[in-house]
Amino acid sequence: MTREPLTAGALILAAAATVVLLLAPPAGAQPPRRPRPLENIKTLKGWNGDEVRAEMRLMTEALGVKCDYCHVQGNFASDEKRPKHTARRMLELTMALNAESFPSHTPAEGQSKLGRVTCYTCHQGAQVPKQGAGPGVMAW
Ligand code: HEC
Ligand code: HEC
Repeated sequence: MTREPLTAGALILAAAATVVLLLAPPAGAQPPRRPRPLENIKTLKGWNGDEVRAEMRLMTEALGVKCDYCHVQGNFASDEKRPKHTARRMLELTMALNAESFPSHTPAEGQSKLGRVTCYTCHQGAQVPKQGAGPGVMAW
């Protein structure tokens, strides 16, 4: 039985096929999850995706709401919902308070990057902060 001699071309093809096989992810493996780049950041300029998402979770807790209170399902970049606009003004207010009164506060790991004053400071888990005690209690 005679064998065809391997040509250089066939050798190169075989090598290329091996490389493709080695580079391909094993069957069933998920590609690494890559978060989408942020598209519509107007207030938290310069924050990276992880920082924005971490602050979003804190905001959600602080107001006692879910993401969809401010966001259209499936489109975080959309500005369709009114509370998102209010939240931008609230972010500005909170950043201004911190810049003015707590400029040297450095947030620890897991704390709000906004600073010492956060959404929670005022909201305490409510969509609209409580007015506090009624008239006459703080009589000064
Ligand atoms: C109280 C309102 C509010 C809630 C609740 C909220 N967000 Fe946001 N979100 C905003 C605002 C405001 C911006 C835009 C910030 C800016 O312009 O710098 C934003 C931006 C984002 C962006 C960036 C979108 C882009 O591409 O520009 C992502 C992602 C996001 N939010 C995710 C979430 C997730 C996840 C939750 C729930 C855990 C959540 N948000 C809850 C107000 C909210
Ligand atoms: C200094 C106090 C203070 C801070 C800090 C603050 N808020 Fe507010 N927020 C208020 C007050 C007061 C109101 C109610 C305003 C009104 O009655 O018109 C309000 C209202 C809102 C509303 C509208 C609620 C509604 O149903 O009408 C949203 C949304 C909101 N805040 C989001 C935020 C977010 C997000 C943060 C943090 C980035 C934040 N706030 C930080 C005081 C604060």
